[in-house]
Amino acid sequence: MQQNVYKVPAEAKSRAHIDNDRYLEMYQQSVEDPEGFWREQGQRIDWFSPYSKVKNTSFKPGDITIKWFEDGTLNACYNCVDRHLAERGDKTAIIWEGDDPSVSEEISYKQLHAEVSRFANGLKKLGVEKGDRVAIYMPMVPEAAYAMLACARIGAVHTVIFGGFSPNAIADRVNDCGVKVVITSDEGRRGGKTTPLKANVDEALKDNRCPSVEHVVVAKVTHGDVAFDEQRDIWWDQLVKDVATECQPEVMNAEDPLFILYTSGSTGKPKGVLHTTGGYMVWASMTHEYVFDYHEEDVYWCAADVGWITGHTYIVYGPLANGATTLVFEGLPTYPGVGRIGEVVDKHGVNILYTAPTAIRALMAKGTAAADTSSRKSLRTLGSVGEPINPEAWEWYYKVMGDSRCPIVDTWWQTETGGIMITPLPGATDLKPGSATRPFFGVQPALVDADGNELEGAVDGNLVIKDSWPGQSRTLWGDHERFEQTYFSAYKNLYFSGDGARRDEDDYFWITGRVDDVLNVSGHRLGTAEIESVLVEHPAISEAAVVGYPHDLKGQGIYVYLIAMSGTEVSDDLTKEVREWVRKELSPIATPDFIHWAPDLPKTRSGKIMRRILRKIAANEFENLGDTSTLADPSVVDSLIENRLNK
Ligand code: WT7
Repeated sequence: MQQNVYKVPAEAKSRAHIDNDRYLEMYQQSVEDPEGFWREQGQRIDWFSPYSKVKNTSFKPGDITIKWFEDGTLNACYNCVDRHLAERGDKTAIIWEGDDPSVSEEISYKQLHAEVSRFANGLKKLGVEKGDRVAIYMPMVPEAAYAMLACARIGAVHTVIFGGFSPNAIADRVNDCGVKVVITSDEGRRGGKTTPLKANVDEALKDNRCPSVEHVVVAKVTHGDVAFDEQRDIWWDQLVKDVATECQPEVMNAEDPLFILYTSGSTGKPKGVLHTTGGYMVWASMTHEYVFDYHEEDVYWCAADVGWITGHTYIVYGPLANGATTLVFEGLPTYPGVGRIGEVVDKHGVNILYTAPTAIRALMAKGTAAADTSSRKSLRTLGSVGEPINPEAWEWYYKVMGDSRCPIVDTWWQTETGGIMITPLPGATDLKPGSATRPFFGVQPALVDADGNELEGAVDGNLVIKDSWPGQSRTLWGDHERFEQTYFSAYKNLYFSGDGARRDEDDYFWITGRVDDVLNVSGHRLGTAEIESVLVEHPAISEAAVVGYPHDLKGQGIYVYLIAMSGTEVSDDLTKEVREWVRKELSPIATPDFIHWAPDLPKTRSGKIMRRILRKIAANEFENLGDTSTLADPSVVDSLIENRLNK
């Protein structure tokens, strides 16, 4: 196969913080002397009292310990806001671009400081104290960032819940970490449509389903009608009306929790990934600066949602820690037309654009129309995140959106890693479309076989990380055992990512995707077990098995095998109803793409569903089904194939 290589442009190299020589030198130091390297790098953020200890980490079975800068004290909000006031008080911190293209707003660091401090005082008035958990269920409006930063300011632990989640999903998350206050808005607004956020919160909390919740703060976004419980609910503007604009940031230990973010795993309910303060802030700010080659005068846009880790680290904490101008976008890349991204770039002079392959493929489907209504001449660096980017989409992004001028950083990382792990650097790394290339400083990736033996050279394997890095998740909320079980039990003394990868002859990494029962649908991470448990709650369904299959736009689609309750008549209406059920009970992002009613599922004699076979059938690969001799009833496979072909 012919392989295009894009050399570092001379211009990118000359302006960059890091060129290739510097990358190699710093990388070597970061892995040979992590103590010394991070002792120095930790200085990039402001500490109230300095750390004397740098790294205290162990991946040993029974003793998973991850502590960085553990005796230092600081405040994340202070680092994102207060420390910029002297030099950058009037600089724009946030550009808010509304769903409606005629609506935008600029918020200076001074204004950000006032908004965040007032809201922090409001939270205090509601009784929120250091260590309390606060849920944020909001659309992409500046208030979402204010709420996160206000929590950080007073030492409350936020858990942002993606605005696309259903009431049940909200209730699960709120109950798992005992949330005291929920912050939401009347409605959300995207692509010209509204979503009933407040009503979803009401539904989640009704009948005392979430007994820990004392108050719900409601921001007015659309001014739509909502039900209001005078005892429990309070309007945002009411809450901040008579409070002081000064709020002393709480002194936090480096290892005090900053936030919990729920993500899907291969089994059971979502996991509350915990990030703490010091190491996370160092990682967020350092990766933001070097990976995007961020410079002081840049306008930076990460088109993710704050409901995901990408929004936490690369819309809020990383860029604001660096005193950047960060763009918060309420809308959709295709609304009102496919030209929107380029139009927003031109409107605000965006220099750095960070988005997801799923958005890129949606635009690519319209040829070059996405570029017809804009010049995008301000763009300098492009980024990709969330799933493997196919070389065709990479080339389109490079040529059409970037006019063959802008290096693309394809950044591999995860909710659990806190920030970017494997990535090109714009001024240092020659690019190969589809490859996330090389590790960031301090990251030691390796490939292992099924038994955990490290593989050398150009080879395929399971992607593990050999030692800790400051941005790493510390634990799962309230369940350190599950943390160890999930990430450190497959391979001893190694962090297992759940991804497969290939290393090529230039030591470049190519992420091939999840090797566990986790799906990546349009960059959204979903556990098959999670979807299955919602499905079997439907009265007409007796058994369900969910697998992913290749999908042109979404990367992976959701393929659902269902066995109906005996006596149930399977009809198109029922299929439609099941689809609606998943949307409502879990989330629209989990809506099945393909529903396959089957008389039976392929199981081993011990009753275990053979997902390997289900994946092949879903992918229309009927050859090489592998060994089916251990099946209890091999004829099940033939009937599944027949059914698949008839669709
Ligand atoms: C999973 C993590 C990273 C923040 C957003 C998603 C996949 C992520 C890439 C990439 C190939 C990627 C992996 C990973 N993934 N980035 N550049 N190339 N795959 O965070 O929801 O925790 O999902 O997303 O499979 O394990 P997440």
